Amino acid sequence: QIAVPPFDVPRVIAHRGASASAPENTLAAFRRAHALGAPWVEFDVKLTADNRPIVFHDDILSRTTNGQGPVAAAPLAALGDLDAGQWFDPDFAGELVPTLEEVVDLLAEMGLGANMEIKPCPGRDEETAAIALEVARQVWPSEASPLLVSSFSRTALDVARQTAPQWPRGLLTEALTDDWRQAAEAVGAWSIHCASEPLGPSGVAEVLDAGYRVMVYTVNDPGRALNLWDWGVHGIFTDRPEVLLPLAGA
Ligand code: G3P
Ligand code: MG
Repeated sequence: QIAVPPFDVPRVIAHRGASASAPENTLAAFRRAHALGAPWVEFDVKLTADNRPIVFHDDILSRTTNGQGPVAAAPLAALGDLDAGQWFDPDFAGELVPTLEEVVDLLAEMGLGANMEIKPCPGRDEETAAIALEVARQVWPSEASPLLVSSFSRTALDVARQTAPQWPRGLLTEALTDDWRQAAEAVGAWSIHCASEPLGPSGVAEVLDAGYRVMVYTVNDPGRALNLWDWGVHGIFTDRPEVLLPLAGA
C-alpha cells in the first residue's frame, strides 16, 4: 500500500521555491532555489476554471498577482495576463503564474526533486488531484526522479493512492490530531508533514516510531531547524534555503 520511493527526502526543501528571495511559486523562485543549492522544492498545485493545473498557493488572486477574484473562476487564458512578481519586488515584474507543465520542465532541466502539494480550491479536491496527477504522469521525467505528493486533503491523497501509487504520499497536518495514524494508514502515507509551531520532540518520536518520515513546515530560524533535526525530523521546508543549507550537513 505504501509506495516506497527509490530516494529519501533531503534535509532542506525550498518552500514555494526560494520564497524569501523571489516571488513564491514562480519559475524565478525555483531558479533561485537551484542557484542557492536546494536539492528539492515544494510547490502548490490547483486548478483554473478550465481545469488546467497551475502552481499557485492562495484560493484568490489578489495577494500574489495584480488580478482579483477566485482562482477557481479564472480560465488559464485570463491568468496569462497577470503579473505574479511585481507584488514581491519590482525586479520581478513580468513573472507569470506557471502551469504545472512549465514547472516540471524547469525542475527536470535543473535536476531538482519536488514535493508537489495538491492544494484544491474549495470543493475541487477530487478533480484537482486527478488532473494534477495525470499531467504529472505525462511530464514528470521518470519514476526514479524524486517526486513526493502531499496534501491536507485526504480526498486528494486517496485519489493519489488509487491513480498514482508509484509516488509516495505525504499527509499534511497542522498538528498531530488523535486520528493522524488512522488518516495516514487510510491514504497509505509514507511521510507526515507537520507545522513547526505545535511540534515537540515527543510528537516527532511518535511519528518516527510509527515508521513514517517526518517533514516540518515552515522553518526559517536556524536554531529551530537544528532542534528539529536533532529530534529526528527528516526534511524541513524553508523560505530561506541559503540559511539552513550550511547547517544541514551532508
Ligand atoms: O507543504 C508544506 C507547506 O507548504 C504547507 O502549507 O500553506 O505553505 O502550503 P502551505
Ligand atoms: Mg505548500
